[in-house]
Amino acid sequence: MSKFRIGLIGCGVISDIYLKTCQKFDILDVVACASLDVDEAMAKAKAWNIPTACSPEEIIQDADIDCVLNLTVPAAHAEISLAALGAGKHVYSEKPFATDIDDGKKILELAASKGLYVGNAPDTFLGGRMQTCRRVIDEGLIGEPTGVSAFAGTHGVERHHPNPDFYYKPGGGPLLDLGPYYLTAMISLLGPVARSCGFAKRTFDERMIESKPRHGEMMQVEVDTHVCGTLEFANGAIGSMMMSFDIWDSQLPRLEIYGTKGTLCIPDPDPVHGTNIFGGEVYFKTRETARWTYKPRVQGLEEWDVIENLHGYNEDSRGLGLADLAYAVRDGRPARANGEMAFHVFDIMMGMLEAPKVGAYSVLNSTCTIPLPLPENFPQSEVQ
Ligand SMILES: NC(=O)c1ccc[n+]([C@@H]2O[C@H](COP(=O)([O-])OP(=O)(O)OC[C@H]3O[C@@H](n4cnc5c(N)ncnc54)[C@H](O)[C@@H]3O)[C@@H](O)[C@H]2O)c1
Repeated sequence: MSKFRIGLIGCGVISDIYLKTCQKFDILDVVACASLDVDEAMAKAKAWNIPTACSPEEIIQDADIDCVLNLTVPAAHAEISLAALGAGKHVYSEKPFATDIDDGKKILELAASKGLYVGNAPDTFLGGRMQTCRRVIDEGLIGEPTGVSAFAGTHGVERHHPNPDFYYKPGGGPLLDLGPYYLTAMISLLGPVARSCGFAKRTFDERMIESKPRHGEMMQVEVDTHVCGTLEFANGAIGSMMMSFDIWDSQLPRLEIYGTKGTLCIPDPDPVHGTNIFGGEVYFKTRETARWTYKPRVQGLEEWDVIENLHGYNEDSRGLGLADLAYAVRDGRPARANGEMAFHVFDIMMGMLEAPKVGAYSVLNSTCTIPLPLPENFPQSEVQ
């Protein structure tokens, strides 16, 4: 089988899980890595047996590389993606898709004009947990989907990330950081969003880095850090979400999906698997098992039924979407974690942040198609 040759740009915190996932797929071959910091790139190459550590420009210009894996900070996503596409390479990028709507459009237009693929994180919706939701929704367990709620309340990232600055600069903030996991999951189940609106605020002007090695340094906060939004899906379902870096502790986060016949409940992070949505239980209630009165809430989910999970990728599998994209390129079919959907998610979020400034809903110009479910036996399903 001919390999899909990957050049990694961005060798920071998230790159290890991608490199681990890449090793699981025969079709993927990471042939070079680059970062702004040469020592960091060299250490990454050594740790993961990557043949070449070089500059980002050398990866962009290397004619033997098929695809750039863009794991840079949000402010650099569009610049790197556009340069890679300009040099004739496919791109798979971390979220958010861009930091500016016009840049996002340019990425899609350039890819289309050159016949290249754009893939984008998150790919958590391809994990066993969301694929379980997809299967039972398609089978009619909860009837017609009518609504969703997604809530994630944290106190930011400055306690664990060594360089948390980018989370508080344009392109950062809880909505653009956490929102894509929940919105992509919702859209992969319910389809595109027609209108969005919301309220957003910045609670703290500056925040202190509490992780090592920069403990004690202050960061200026340039983005809203507590966001409440509302969604109207094209199919008529409605949704609410709250993404925050200003909440000290909470029984949230979770994602819930409501239908005419039942509810799916997806607490996140899962206590066992511990990361946004790939794995973990999917709980459900139907008319037969639901409470009939509004009683005081019972802690925990002991009264809920659990759906059998028949799907793979229940562990952190960031990069699964890149493997799917590699097969998509080979076979000329759409990639599941694709740029069209990622841009739509970005457009929804920017609309949500814009709405309170203009005092109106954002009517979305973008849309996307619902990706096909991931076959239960992926990647054996792709063997020719
Ligand atoms: N850290 C996490 O837990 C996590 C989880 C999921 C997604 N992400 C996303 O992954 C991306 C990277 O996050 P991270 O935590 O690995 O960041 P990081 O700060 O640890 O690493 C960023 C890397 O990008 C490189 N870089 C920055 N600007 C560049 C430029 N202009 N050209 C080339 N290289 C550049 C840096 O040298 C560094 O290697 C972000 O978009 C983030 O939202 C992070």
